[in-house]
Amino acid sequence: MPKQQIKYVCGECGYETPRWLGRCPECGRWGTLAETAVYSGDAGSGTPGGGHVSPTPRGGRSRRPGAAVADLLDKVLAGEGTERPVPITELPEDSGSRMPTGLSELDLVLGGGLVPGSCLLLAGDPGVGKSTLLLAVASALTRARMTVLYVTGEESAAQLRLRAGRISALHPGLLVMAETNVLAAVAAARAHQPAVMIVDSVQTLYHPDIPSPPGSVSQVRECASLLVDVAKGLPAVVWIVGHVTKDGSVAGPRLLEHMVDVVLQFEGERTYPYRILRGLKNRFGATDEIGIFEMTEGGLQEVSNPSQVFLTESAGDASLATVPGTAVTAAIEGRRVICAEVQALVVSSPWGTPRRTAMGVDANRLALIIAVLERRAGVRLVDRDVYVKVAGGVKLVEPGVDLAVAVAVASAGLDRAVRPGLAFAGEIGLRGEIRAVGRQDQRLREVVKLGFEGLVARGSGRQGGLIGVSGLGDALAMSLQRPGRAAER
Ligand code: TYD
Ligand code: MG
Repeated sequence: MPKQQIKYVCGECGYETPRWLGRCPECGRWGTLAETAVYSGDAGSGTPGGGHVSPTPRGGRSRRPGAAVADLLDKVLAGEGTERPVPITELPEDSGSRMPTGLSELDLVLGGGLVPGSCLLLAGDPGVGKSTLLLAVASALTRARMTVLYVTGEESAAQLRLRAGRISALHPGLLVMAETNVLAAVAAARAHQPAVMIVDSVQTLYHPDIPSPPGSVSQVRECASLLVDVAKGLPAVVWIVGHVTKDGSVAGPRLLEHMVDVVLQFEGERTYPYRILRGLKNRFGATDEIGIFEMTEGGLQEVSNPSQVFLTESAGDASLATVPGTAVTAAIEGRRVICAEVQALVVSSPWGTPRRTAMGVDANRLALIIAVLERRAGVRLVDRDVYVKVAGGVKLVEPGVDLAVAVAVASAGLDRAVRPGLAFAGEIGLRGEIRAVGRQDQRLREVVKLGFEGLVARGSGRQGGLIGVSGLGDALAMSLQRPGRAAER
C-alpha cells in the first residue's frame, strides 16, 4: 500500500520540502508552497495507484540500488537488453516526419508542423482564443482525414458543437468528449487512437486517486504525466491547454513546461482583434517565429500581411501628423518585420513619484529610455507621468523598438510632432548612442515597400531610404517638427 505523507510543493518550480516556507528556496518566489499529499511505496513517490501510470524508472525503491545495478550490468555486458549507450552515428536519422496543420502561421511557429509522439502546451489568458485556435487546428486536420479527439472540461459538448458550427469545423473525424477524469480521457484515446488529442484544459482535469482539487500541483503533474505517456505510447500528438496566471506564467506548476516538448503562448488584448502565437519552447525547432491571427465573427483568420496590421490609419497620414507622441517602429519578430505605432503621452504628475506605464513594451526598457532622454537629450520628464503603448495590442520584445519609444516619448514631452513618413529601428545605449540592430536592410526594404519615406537607424548620411543617425540628439533633431503653437516651453 502506498503511504501518504504531507509535503509542501512549490507551484512554480515543483520544489518539495517537508516544512512550510514563505519563500521557495529554489525559485525564490513568495507564497507558492502549497500543502500536498505525496505517496511513497512501491509505486514510487508522487504516483498513487501506480497501476494507472505506465512504468517509469521511478519504481523499485524497496531494493538496494547496488544489487539492481549489478543485475543490469550483467545484462548489458552480456549484450542483452536495449538500455545501452549507442554511438551517435549509429542512431537512426530523424525521419523529420511532421504533420503540417494546414494553418500556415501555426506551422511557421512549430517549425513545419506537429511531430507525432509529442506533447504540446498552449498557454494563454482566459478568453484569448485558445479553444478557438485548437478547434481550427482540429478542423484542418479532420479535413485531411485524420481523427482528432477533443476532450473538453471547460465547455459542454453542446457548446463546443455550437462554436464548431460557427467556425465551420463540423466533421465526423472530430470526436468530442466532455470529461474531466483523466483516466477516462486516456482510455478514450487508447480506444480511438486519434492522430491528435486535445485536452482543454489541464486545470479542469483530475486523477481520481489524488485527493487534491483539479488545478493543484499534484493533479496537474499527474494528469500531464499520463498525457505525455499517451503521446509517446500511441503515438499521438497530445495538445494540452493551460491558463496563465496574472504574472504571465503558466498556471499550476512551472514543471508542466518542463514535461512537454513544445510550449506555445497565445497572446493579445481582448479589445483588439489581433492574436499572436509565440513559441516559448520547442524541442523540434527554433522558437523565434511568431504567428499572427485575427479574431473575426467566423473564427480565427490567418493574417497574410503581418508587417502592417498594427499600423493605424494615422501612420504616414500627414493630416494627423500634427499630434505629438507617435512614432512607427520597424521591429523584427522571428524572420519577419512588424511595423507598429508606438504612442506616448506625457503629462505633469500630481504625485511625488511620477507614473511610468508601459503596454506592449518592456517596463524596464521604458525606464531606461526615460533616464537616457532626461540625462542625454535634455527632455524633462522627472516630474511628469509617462504612458507608452503599442497600438494594435501587440507586444514587442526586441531592443530595436527603443528608438521609436524614445522618439515618441520625446515628441510627447516636448510637444513637437514627429515628421510624417518616418519609421525607426535602433537600440539605445546608456550614453545616448544609437546602436545598429539586426537585419537593418530587411527592415528598410519593408518600410520602403509600405510607402514610408525612410528608416531612421544607426548609420551615417542618407542612402536608399536609410536615414543614418548615431546619437539620440541627432535622431530627435531630425525627426521632430518645430514646436507648434501648443508647445509648453
Ligand atoms: P476562446 O477560444 O473561448 O478563448 P479561450 O479558450 O482562450 O478561453 O475565445 C473566446 C473569445 O473569442 C470570445 O470572447 C469570443 C471570441 N470569438 C470570436 O470573436 N469569434 C469566434 O468565431 C469565436 C469562436 C470566438
Ligand atoms: Mg477555452
